[in-house]
Amino acid sequence: MAGGRRTMKALVLAGGTGSRLRPITHTSAKQLVPVANKPVLFYGLEAIRDCGIRDVGIIVGETAAEVRAAVGDGSRFGLSVTYIPQAEPLGLAHCVLIARDYLADDDFLMYLGDNFVIAGIRSFVDDFRARRPDAQILLTKVADPTQFGVAELNAAGRVTGVAEKPSRPKSDLALVGVYMFTPLVHEAVRTLRPSHRGELEITDAVQVLIREHADVSSHVITGYWKDTGRVEDMLECNRMVLENIEPRLRGTADDDSEIVGRVDVAEDVVITRSRLVGPLTIGPGAVVTDSYVGPFTSIGPGCRLEGTEIEYSIVMDRSSIRGVPGIRDSLIGKDVEVSPAAFAPRAHQLIVGDHSRVRLNR
Ligand code: DAU
Repeated sequence: MAGGRRTMKALVLAGGTGSRLRPITHTSAKQLVPVANKPVLFYGLEAIRDCGIRDVGIIVGETAAEVRAAVGDGSRFGLSVTYIPQAEPLGLAHCVLIARDYLADDDFLMYLGDNFVIAGIRSFVDDFRARRPDAQILLTKVADPTQFGVAELNAAGRVTGVAEKPSRPKSDLALVGVYMFTPLVHEAVRTLRPSHRGELEITDAVQVLIREHADVSSHVITGYWKDTGRVEDMLECNRMVLENIEPRLRGTADDDSEIVGRVDVAEDVVITRSRLVGPLTIGPGAVVTDSYVGPFTSIGPGCRLEGTEIEYSIVMDRSSIRGVPGIRDSLIGKDVEVSPAAFAPRAHQLIVGDHSRVRLNR
């Protein structure tokens, strides 16, 4: 495109199974679990918009209906969204394969919908656009590289190899779930065979490009990054976002309540005889009575807390917790009810779904 800027699209991966976030992901998409009362996926879409990209293809799987309902046509993010259904989660490179027609011959940013890069990605995308290597990957130092794609760099900082979840990693530099590609990647993807976990790996496609002497560049990011695949990661992301939340009190709190620190209370929230110690956020229409809500907690819209103490937790929409002191490190789904057992004060009554985890402190 003489003189002009090449069009760049984005491919966002919001399919997959989310097995490590069960049971939440039995019924919900893992990319829609809220961090500070906003789905993880929305942070990614906003970051993409902030790169000046408008056309976004979203890969959807089993939870397609829920993702579509949440994101719509993308206009409220300033994006134009096209949904690309994936019948089965056959791998990240499989997503590129089925998006081939949508991507056409444009460069694209591939973004894993469960990844969280707090400082945004604009400078990396700008650099890719300016220099236009064949591919560009983002890397970050991690404690346990065996859980990620891992890159090997030479002394000059050039990527000399990548491997997916290697048992003997050659470095501590993990691939972050944000990749930039020219259409050359489609040729690499076409040559792939399923890996030992039965998936077409994007890491293998990058390795093919390296082997073919394509220009694969990298940036090591130093800011906060998380793959929100596990409960601990979700809670930590929630903490990071809440650290910088703007304090705002839009609901009402009575005179017997105390609000300390960075607290974001949405409209129509009613707080009575309670103590809130931020950073925390409470979604619209929630009711908090005779309770303590402590640091790093997100309470979803329409929740009801009564006679409860909770901190360092995420509670999703419309759940109710009554008469339970000392809840922490918890991820509680939608429409959940937690309350003391009525007739057997010394017993715990549990009605929990498959793959739930309950830790009781007696
Ligand atoms: O988070 C970074 C890591 O992401 C990289 O270090 C790895 O190299 C990369 O393979 C990937 O590893 P994961 O095992 O964490 O990927 P996961 O299966 O969790 O899928 C990532 C996202 O892509 C998630 O939002 C689900 C979606 N997905 C996944 C597959 C396999 C799809 O939409 N379709 C799929 O077929």
